[in-house]
Amino acid sequence: MNMDSDSSHSGNVPVSLKWIGQGDGHLVLLDQTRLPGQVEWLECRTVDSVIRAIQNLSVRGAPLIGIAGAYGLVVAAGEAMVKKLSHDATKTHLSMQAGKLAAARPTAVNLAWAVGRTLAVVESISKNAESRIFGESLLAEALAIHAEDRRLCESIGKHGAALLPEGDILTHCNTGSLATGGDGTALCVITTAWAQGRRFEVYADETRPLFQGARLTAWELVHRGIPVTVLVDSAAASLLKSGRIGSVIVGADRITASGDVANKIGTYGLAILAKAHGVPFFVAAPSSTFDLATREGSEIQIEQRHAEEVTVPMGIRVAPQGAKTFNPAFDVTPADLIHGIITEHGLICPVTRETILRGLESSRRPK
Ligand code: MRU
Repeated sequence: MNMDSDSSHSGNVPVSLKWIGQGDGHLVLLDQTRLPGQVEWLECRTVDSVIRAIQNLSVRGAPLIGIAGAYGLVVAAGEAMVKKLSHDATKTHLSMQAGKLAAARPTAVNLAWAVGRTLAVVESISKNAESRIFGESLLAEALAIHAEDRRLCESIGKHGAALLPEGDILTHCNTGSLATGGDGTALCVITTAWAQGRRFEVYADETRPLFQGARLTAWELVHRGIPVTVLVDSAAASLLKSGRIGSVIVGADRITASGDVANKIGTYGLAILAKAHGVPFFVAAPSSTFDLATREGSEIQIEQRHAEEVTVPMGIRVAPQGAKTFNPAFDVTPADLIHGIITEHGLICPVTRETILRGLESSRRPK
């Protein structure tokens, strides 16, 4: 389907997700499984279609699946209206659909966080309210989460650009407009530094098995006119040894109270390599990615994905039928390998329980 003219971020990167209409409207997603070859949008008019899009990575990236989940709950309110459910039955329907949406992918905390925050609005709806009020109230909250994420990205970009060391930059997976409601987290640090006049080369790990680096990060950077070099994941060690890389910067799916970071598979290895070569390793993430209820990385549930992603990547069989696979979508980087975490409030460095608490405290202070 076509989108109207306001459907792009700066640099003409199309928006990754958009709500159409009012509380009884629907969600439109840029289908990221088709990129970079085709720019196609998916219409989601049922909660099941939102869940499918999250699970097959049509929509992906921790902050963006949170936003999609929040809008998914507005879709659920529309379903309740069509079925003419009573007030109580609507509440039951919303809470069931919220449970399904939050469980669509287990590792990124942003999904359960955003769905929970949106569902909480239901408690303030009066028993006598018309049924359309559910959709309208949930939509207001989903739009607020979306708009907040845009602002968080901007702040992360500004803080990060100010402290990014000289030299070329290595990144992993995709952390840009395609992964957030704004211009990204780690990638926004890079694009903000570039917009401020800094000049460097961005090296993007291809990020097997689903190639978010090659397909999505390179696509975003090419659109923005920023030079990008794609490398196979296993070339990162040689690249770091070459001395060209001034910093490594990645995003996060969940950050524990101790500062352990779950992120795309391969991040942990990259952090070890960065340490071995004396290159600072940064994580950029909004405060909504911190999960202070989880003490350390070993407690994080890591999503395991289908064997075919490894044996038949992009539809080409590269391993024989009968071979088993090991395909975790994420890994955990221990806090002691991370030089600093860039949030919307600034830099958390060194990464410890105490500095994290202090760094996040600023979000609770009146502005
Ligand atoms: O499986 P994906 O593509 O959703 O994984 C995405 C990542 O690991 C990103 O690095 C993370 O969500 C941060 S996005 C700002």
